[in-house]
Amino acid sequence: MTVYALHENPEWFPPFASAFDTAGLDWQEWLLITGYIDLDSTPPEGIYWNRLSGSSHTRGHGYSKDYTRAVQDWLQAHGRRVVNGRWVVEMEVSKVRQLTALKAFGIDVPRTIAVIGRDDLVSRAAEMPVPFITKHNQGGKGLGVRRFDDLASFEAYATSDEFEEPVDGITLLQEYVQPRDGFITRIETVGYEYVYAITADAARGGFQLCPADACEVDEFGRPKEAPSLFALREGFEHPIIDRVLGFARKYQLEVAGFEFIESADGRIVVYDVNTNTNYNPDVEAVAPKSGPAEIARYLHHVESEVYAVT
Ligand SMILES: Nc1ncnc2c1ncn2[C@@H]1O[C@H](COP(=O)(O)OP(=O)(O)OP(=O)(O)O)[C@@H](O)[C@H]1O
Ligand SMILES: [Mg+2]
Repeated sequence: MTVYALHENPEWFPPFASAFDTAGLDWQEWLLITGYIDLDSTPPEGIYWNRLSGSSHTRGHGYSKDYTRAVQDWLQAHGRRVVNGRWVVEMEVSKVRQLTALKAFGIDVPRTIAVIGRDDLVSRAAEMPVPFITKHNQGGKGLGVRRFDDLASFEAYATSDEFEEPVDGITLLQEYVQPRDGFITRIETVGYEYVYAITADAARGGFQLCPADACEVDEFGRPKEAPSLFALREGFEHPIIDRVLGFARKYQLEVAGFEFIESADGRIVVYDVNTNTNYNPDVEAVAPKSGPAEIARYLHHVESEVYAVT
């Protein structure tokens, strides 16, 4: 039986292709950039794995979000099994959805105001203690993430041409959470199980964090020589792991990364849910488990549940 990977960025795919080959999976990529669906047709038998990225529009793939929604509606209507299914798309493309769901689940999140359009930006920012940050609701790659230390500089930015328009018109004004030890942590999970945690140097990395090797290049596309911003967080054991696993299960986030900050004032603040992680090669080289290998294993498991493959 074939596993179809639904995504839009072939550059990110090689680590998954090799893990799937190693695991002996029969797989195919289905690029959701432009195309068509004949609604009278029946989707191919098989298992589907959705990897839509919230930042697809930044690669000129502005239709991918709605293409993925449409394909998944069609697949769902035919009872096809999609790993990271229909509602995971909505979680990926909306930090409002992530933060409200996390908070309702009892997980601490940064104080956030979502501003729709530009009219209310400055008046709402006046309610935020400084420093605060801006962020796009439909994010990825740190889109629109900027820090402001005073209201005047935000007002100058928000009313200027420099203002980065979010693709869905929703800008988040968010509490800046000071990391106690200068790094953020990302917990990776596959199939509601913990894979590993990584740290990212918050000071050096700024806000544009992307753990894929494709991101670690200079402006000429050459690999950066600086040491990686990312490291395996060895021996990480903390109740937050079970909390995010419970959250993943509730929202059927079958492949998900959760980013949090241990704040200077002693909180564990979760601020981002990723459903299409690009696993960092330096971390993968030393980690006790591999993200892509765990996904291959999980897809094989799901396939055997649906099609009784042995
Ligand atoms: N509330 C916050 N306080 C302090 N730093 C933050 C906060 N939110 C985000 N950051 C920093 O900015 C980075 C990018 O933010 P975030 O992960 O929310 O955006 P994103 O667009 O989803 O990016 P990515 O795709 O890299 O995960 C974080 O990894 C972290 O270093
Ligand atoms: Mg993030």
